[in-house]
Amino acid sequence: MSMLEIIDLTATIEEKPVLRGLNLLIRPGEIHAIMGPNGAGKSTLAKILAGDPSYEITGGEVLFNGVNILEMAPEERAHLGLFMSFQYPLEIPGVSNAEFLYAAKCALCKARNEPLPSKEEFQQKLAEKMALLEMKSEFTERFLNEGFSGGEKKRNEILQMSLLEPHLAILDETDSGLDIDAMRIVACGVKVLMNPQRSLLLITHYHRLLEYIRPHVVHVMIDGRIVRSGSVELALELEKKGYK
Ligand SMILES: Nc1ncnc2c1ncn2[C@@H]1O[C@H](COP(=O)(O)OP(=O)(O)OP(=O)(O)O)[C@@H](O)[C@H]1O
Ligand SMILES: [Mg+2]
Repeated sequence: MSMLEIIDLTATIEEKPVLRGLNLLIRPGEIHAIMGPNGAGKSTLAKILAGDPSYEITGGEVLFNGVNILEMAPEERAHLGLFMSFQYPLEIPGVSNAEFLYAAKCALCKARNEPLPSKEEFQQKLAEKMALLEMKSEFTERFLNEGFSGGEKKRNEILQMSLLEPHLAILDETDSGLDIDAMRIVACGVKVLMNPQRSLLLITHYHRLLEYIRPHVVHVMIDGRIVRSGSVELALELEKKGYK
């Protein structure tokens, strides 16, 4: 059984190859990390999985719970339980965080023909999760990500994830310095989220974060391909020796 299976995926942007035969297999309950030098194609992979139309898929397959998702619209993928965070999260002035989260949750329920949570139910769940992530209650009324610090955006993203309860979450880490607290929060959020039916793909430059989260597999991506896979020790080795 696989949650995500990527087979020989190739893709280009403006005719320039960015993925060059990428293979990846993630089973339910597993946490995988992808590391690699700047420009390796890590964020590209995340965006392609989310359904970003700027990339042209030139070959290969992506199966999510056995279903080929490459032809699907981004929202259809989300309805199937795919969640994506971005290296540079969107800011929406004028829309409060709570409104955004409630709308996202309701959209998901509608698409799945599930009953919508009432505003009160949702508020309560939101407050619970925020307490868990040590977020101040003022964040519910602030406009989405506007003026949020790097660490606050990160907490907010973990909050979104814990409310939407995806089957597979793909987190593309922001490279603007996460402090120790933010790393601890991300790690704690991930632990709360994970269960044997869920999987996580974490894209990061931080060895530190991997020590907190302890992924099952660490992959090294160079030049649009996964060139090595191993345990967390591989990440520590890379920290000492570099990618060369
Ligand atoms: N919209 C685009 N237009 C042109 N080139 C692009 C575009 N998006 C990505 N690329 C190129 O694709 C390559 C891979 O970029 P990508 O952002 O996936 O790297 P990355 O591994 O995430 O790097 P980082 O570690 O710096 O986040 C880079 O050479 C980048 O310039
Ligand atoms: Mg990137």
